[in-house]
Amino acid sequence: MKVPQHIAVIMDGNGRWATSRGLSRSAGHKEGTANLERLLDHLLLRRIPVVSLYAFSTENWRRPRTEIHAIFSLVEEFITTHLNKMVGEGVRMVVSGDLSRIPKRSRELLLDAIEKTRKGIRLTANFCLNYGSRSELLRAAQEYALWYSSHKTQRPPTEKQFQKFFWQPNLPDIDMLVRTAGELRLSNFMLWQAAYAELYFTEKTWPEFGAEDLDEAIREFHRRKRKFGGL
Ligand code: IPE
Ligand code: IPE
Ligand code: MG
Repeated sequence: MKVPQHIAVIMDGNGRWATSRGLSRSAGHKEGTANLERLLDHLLLRRIPVVSLYAFSTENWRRPRTEIHAIFSLVEEFITTHLNKMVGEGVRMVVSGDLSRIPKRSRELLLDAIEKTRKGIRLTANFCLNYGSRSELLRAAQEYALWYSSHKTQRPPTEKQFQKFFWQPNLPDIDMLVRTAGELRLSNFMLWQAAYAELYFTEKTWPEFGAEDLDEAIREFHRRKRKFGGL
């Protein structure tokens, strides 16, 4: 059976995982980051070619500065600790989101990691940072308008042409979208790319979501009947 070609994950519940244990929210983000490594290992094992990881949304700037700082410190720590391993295992790191607003050190490490992992062919890991679907779509519309006015083409864009202006235009559509921690919403994540995604929600928080949970999600994916509007 064909595995999902693109899994997207809204990694939610770090805060609740921590506070229910009397820990700080930052400790929850640390545990969530540790889980990310386990998830990447398992995606490689299951030969899933693309994963999109919602790590920081355009709305997450509303959080306290200390928490935002802790999250980006963890992004930096994750890259410095795992870059060599990612290169060795054939993980290609790409990013979706406007990096101009994130801390300079995070941006530099991310750009370096994107460059050093660019030849990875086993798993594309799309890190969504300062990502919001509405801003991605608005930006695409603006860029398309600029392109249109300089090319004087008469035809409106096809979906494929329009998608060229997304952060990661070459990734396949999302086959399955997983959200942890019980929230039943998309929170501005990949509204276009998930148009026909199978949605999978679980009560488990992100730090608790392990390999066997991913396997269960994949099994559930295989049980779904995908129709894409047909019969
Ligand atoms: C998800 O966990 C991680 C980020 C949004 C960065 P949360 O921090 O949203 O955890 P909860 O939802 O408060 O439990
Ligand atoms: C979505 O989670 C963003 C990430 C997981 C990075 P949130 O915790 O920010 O979403 P809401 O606020 O519950 O919608
Ligand atoms: Mg949350």
